[in-house]
Amino acid sequence: MFRSDLFQGKRFLITGGGTGLGKIMLDRFVGLGADGVICGRRGTVLEETAREIMARYPGRRVDCFTVDIRVATAVEEMIGEIWAGGPLDGLVNNAAGNFISQTKDLSPRAFDAIANIVLHGTFYVTNACGKRWIAEQRQASVISILTTWVWTGSPFVVPSAMSKAGVAVMTQSLAVEWGRHGIRLNAIAPGPFPTEGAWARLNPMKESDEDRYRARNPMGRVGRPSELANMAAFLMSDEVAYINGEVIAIDGGMGIMGNGTFSNMMAYSEDDWRRIREQIQATNASDKAKRS
Ligand code: HXC
Repeated sequence: MFRSDLFQGKRFLITGGGTGLGKIMLDRFVGLGADGVICGRRGTVLEETAREIMARYPGRRVDCFTVDIRVATAVEEMIGEIWAGGPLDGLVNNAAGNFISQTKDLSPRAFDAIANIVLHGTFYVTNACGKRWIAEQRQASVISILTTWVWTGSPFVVPSAMSKAGVAVMTQSLAVEWGRHGIRLNAIAPGPFPTEGAWARLNPMKESDEDRYRARNPMGRVGRPSELANMAAFLMSDEVAYINGEVIAIDGGMGIMGNGTFSNMMAYSEDDWRRIREQIQATNASDKAKRS
């Protein structure tokens, strides 16, 4: 389904699309024939990205809007301006804020700094688009970038985990409320996908990703940006228009590995397993002998 005209005639907004995973998704969508709109707080970064992507895909267009999605009035104004240039067909809620901290050290302002972007900002953008799609009877697809913590919670990133869990519930709620208007909402829950912006705040001790994830991830590695971009293109596409209200993990199985009582045994060698088998067989034989 990833043919070069998959998104021909479509126009998608990616919040926080100037850098990191947002930029990678933009590249993938435009490469598949879409026009892009990106927004973020740093105008020069957005413009540089737009120039780079348009140079890579001649004939395609990428528009930029400088906005802080925490400000509801600014979001409404931006979405109005975007629509004046043509309606959107899809939205990726990618903009986020996060930092590692012990929760006891967070001030109310620190909590708000994250929640106002992830929970409030995501809602402002989604609803500003949604009401226009409903009024115009226009079909659309929304993808929100979450994390696997929406199912498990996570220590040291509580404002982000709480806010993203809220967006997961928004996804399910609006999938039902807006499904009859032809608007579907899904979410992607990535595991570790190192990007400069996120890792500056989430890996402050600069631990090696290889060391951190070799034993803790079934696939022994972090995610590749292109894998996330492919998932986003798949979900955004009309080819899968019956997928609605799903939150899909892309984490190499890391999120469920922690739940397995015996996941630590992934590190055992063949020799360990031979000894385990011998020991269990010996126990079984001695039990049998006792019974006879
Ligand atoms: C405790 C902290 C803190 C820290 C800031 N604060 N950093 N408290 N520990 N490390 C407090 C401040 O003291 C202040 O509270 C309040 O937070 C607001 O701080 P500001 O610097 O004024 O905030 P602001 O300029 O709004 O920026 C905060 C931010 C910033 C939005 C979170 O980090 C940012 O711009 N991030 C954008 C990019 C980003 O974070 N990307 C990562 C997304 S990764 P007081 O009370 O002192 O005034 C992600 C999930 C990844 O979302 C999943 C991977 C598995």
